This record gives sequence, structure tokens and C-alpha cells, in this order.
Amino acid sequence: MNLYNIFGNLYNYSIQKYAHNLGANFLYLPADIIIRKNLADKYKDFKKNQSSLSFLKSRPQLQELYRSSNVTNATISDIYNIEYNQNTLNNCNYKFLNALLFENGFNKISGINIENLKGKKILDVGAGSGELEKFLITQGCNPKDITVTDVSEESCKKISTLEISALVGRLENLNFEQNYFDLIFLSYFIDYDIDQVSTFKATSKILKSGGKIIFEGLLPCEPVLKIKQDKNKFITKGKSLLGDIECIVNFFKQNLNNIFLEGIYLGSRFIHNKNGIVKLDSCFLVFVKR
Ligand SMILES: C[S@@+](CC[C@H](N)C(=O)[O-])C[C@H]1O[C@@H](n2cnc3c(N)ncnc32)[C@H](O)[C@@H]1O
Repeated sequence: MNLYNIFGNLYNYSIQKYAHNLGANFLYLPADIIIRKNLADKYKDFKKNQSSLSFLKSRPQLQELYRSSNVTNATISDIYNIEYNQNTLNNCNYKFLNALLFENGFNKISGINIENLKGKKILDVGAGSGELEKFLITQGCNPKDITVTDVSEESCKKISTLEISALVGRLENLNFEQNYFDLIFLSYFIDYDIDQVSTFKATSKILKSGGKIIFEGLLPCEPVLKIKQDKNKFITKGKSLLGDIECIVNFFKQNLNNIFLEGIYLGSRFIHNKNGIVKLDSCFLVFVKR
């Protein structure tokens, strides 16, 4: 075992201890191994486009954009429209593979047997290229039970071809019925969200009692966006993984006292965009409304 693994395991241990102190589950999901094994064909497809160096080059460019301008939802939407608009849904520039996209991973993380999802009302916020939706449909979910939102018009245009209701905009502006959804995914967009507080508050209102929030994020969430933005709109501080997990859990505890942490799941995911493919960290936090 090398030093990286030793420190990695010690760090995971501190997160495991934190989860256990709150009576929550903890699991380390080495998603790259799981993904290679369970999604061999999709993974091979991803590898064909491998060029992680050029992918990584695109991140400083993004950060530069954040630093130099006042970032709005339109800026984010413009960036993602480019990713989604030149291709069909099956051939988007942006794609991802994560542990949720195969049956065992989904069951483990959500604590829900995927067969029991039929008839449940599902919302995916920041749905992007629609990988999760395609997976849910192949697992027998009715597209009519799924709703997605995204600030990118192109994302919504593509996903609505699956007969799914796809709404452009920020969650708090979309007037969803309160206590309506059984399952809400907040999937890998927190670093682009210019008002995390409003998103999390809106999520908790439209979730049914007994329903779950499945959050996945790249944590610690880089503070680049915060430089010129209102600090009161951010929950994460971007200092450390455990620090940001605590920030999110404490936000729910202090502001929305009926939402409880059920589990923390750490691993990685693959993302493919117009610049290539890269493996990024992935932290799932599962919350239940009581
Ligand atoms: C990195 S992609 C994530 C896509 C997909 N959910 C995934 O897991 O990979 C981020 C997506 O979130 C969208 N987005 C960013 N901020 C958002 C917000 N506040 N509300 C809805 N969508 C948002 C972007 O337009 C983009 O499509």
C-alpha cells in the first residue's frame, strides 16, 4: 500500500466516523472499477475518446471566465448549450458514467430497489445530457413520472425527446407543487450553481415526506464562483471534502429540520466533454425527509 492509499484511507476513515456519529451509512465505491466491470461497453466507448489532458485544460479556462465576469445562469447555460447542441441525445459531447447508472450501484446508494421505483415521482435537477433518465427508463420507469430541470435550453430540448417533462430554469422559479416528489437528484452541478441556498431550500419543499434527495457533487466545491458573488448564497466553502459535507449536512439541520442524512458514498465518475474524458471525484449524500 503506498502513502497516497494510506492517507486516502485515513481520510475516508474520518468521513466514515462522521457518518456513523450521525447514524448514517458510509461506503467507499471505487466507481472506476465498478463502472469498468458493469458498464464495459459504455466504458470502452468513453475510452475511445480519451484525452484527459485537453479536458483538464478546459477547467482553468472556465475558472478564468468565472473570475473575469459576473457569472449568471445565462453564462452557465451558454457553456452547456455548446456541449449539448450539436448532437443528438445519444451522441452529446457531454456524457457521464457514475455508480448510479447500474442496478447494484443505484440500489446501494439510493437504498431503493430499482424495481420499486415504478409509479414514483422523480425529479432530476441539472439533468444535463440525460444519462440518468435513459437509465431509469431502461429500468422500467415511466417517462411520465420523470421531470427534469436545467438552465440549459439545449439539455431540456434533448431530454424532452424521451417524452420526459423537461423545464428550463432554476428550481425555485419553476413553481412545483409542494410535497410532490418521491426522489430528487441534485446531480453534479453544485459547482455551477450561483445560488446553492435557494436550490436546497426549494428541493426540500417539493420533496414528499418519506422521500429522498440524492445529491452528487465534486467536493470540496471550488470557491471560484464565490469571488464576485453573494457569499450568503453559498453553502459549501471549498476547503476540504469533510468540511463541505459538514456544511451541507449542517445547512439541512439548521434550516430545514425535517431532512436527515442517510448515507455518504465516496467514489469517482467519468466525464466526457468536447475536450476529452476525465475521471473526477464523486461524493453522494443521501437525505431523507421525515
Ligand atoms: C456538470 S453538468 C451535470 C449533468 C448531469 N446531471 C451529471 O450528473 O453529469 C451541470 C448541468 O447543470 C446545469 N445547471 C447548472 N446550474 C444549474 C441550476 N442552478 N439549476 C439547474 N441546472 C443547472 C448545467 O446547465 C449543466 O447542464
